[in-house]
Amino acid sequence: MRALVTGVAGFIGSTLARRLLEEGASVVGVDSLTDYYDRALKRRNATDMQARGLLFLAEDLLRLDLKPLLEGIDVVFHLAGQPGVRASWGNDFERYTERNVLATQTLLEAVRAQASPPRVVYASSSSVYGDAPQYPTRENDLPRPVSPYGVSKLAAEHLVTLYGLQFGIQTVSLRYFTVYGPRQRPDMAFSRFIDAALNQQPITVYGDGKQVRDFTYVDDVVQANLLAASASLSPGEVMNISGGSSVTVRDTIRLLEEIHGAPVPVRFEPRVVGDAQRTGGSNERAKASLGWRPTVSIAEGLSREYAYFAERRRDRS
Ligand code: UGA
Repeated sequence: MRALVTGVAGFIGSTLARRLLEEGASVVGVDSLTDYYDRALKRRNATDMQARGLLFLAEDLLRLDLKPLLEGIDVVFHLAGQPGVRASWGNDFERYTERNVLATQTLLEAVRAQASPPRVVYASSSSVYGDAPQYPTRENDLPRPVSPYGVSKLAAEHLVTLYGLQFGIQTVSLRYFTVYGPRQRPDMAFSRFIDAALNQQPITVYGDGKQVRDFTYVDDVVQANLLAASASLSPGEVMNISGGSSVTVRDTIRLLEEIHGAPVPVRFEPRVVGDAQRTGGSNERAKASLGWRPTVSIAEGLSREYAYFAERRRDRS
């Protein structure tokens, strides 16, 4: 397989690229290395992948000549984007429209221009659902995001579906539910909680900590991408990829304390606007269409993430 991975230096993109290279794929990766979080982390991911055979381009999708780059590519895994639910209010929304909506449309146009368009596997998000009237959420439920981030991911998802239906391009959108594991983004809950535990600092919890998440382990998400790359699907399909672990933030802290072997103090801060109270997705469609199901439990996955960050800390000291 010849694959293009956008957002290759990020958390999920780099984990996916590593697996693709292990499987013998030829992988081109693009990442503009934005400064949303420490660029050194992204550079390290990219360098690590380059050593494994990645052809890396530190470029912005909006400025790159995409048509020649896409020639001969079988599958585009489109993970590039502006993440962060809580930071998407205010003037920063421009970044979300550019990097999530416009960049996706630009990529789709370049895909459409190919004589033989590659398949597009798009990284969508559970944030498209918002606070749903019932759980688990299913793909045909009316999406009603509660953050501008969710709106931008949904707009891009609609574009992906539209280009699939209109032009027959093999597109599929995977709605990921709060992905975690080694190399997790530093702004996300578990990497912050683990960092606090290792540094003997209090964990900051937004709201009362009773919000529920369907946390999904990164290797399971990677597996869903691989299956989506070759499954027989109708153009424009959308499916949930959720870990099946509906737990509260408080529960995850208790789990972390067990793994850490000591209590970790918690400091509560006001709930952040845009934070959904609950996510929880049905995996029936992914199971039927891809033969996919999550395999890593929250206890196991959190232990692996903890071990990864603890080891990195030891390496630094
Ligand atoms: C995550 C990703 O950040 C999004 O990019 C992704 O699209 C989204 O999942 C998704 O599934 O659609 P989120 O669920 O907010 O968003 O993930 P976390 O940052 O891990 O937060 C989980 C929960 O912990 C949230 O309720 C958040 O408010 C809470 N949290 C987070 C804290 O209480 N304290 C923190 O320091 C960080």
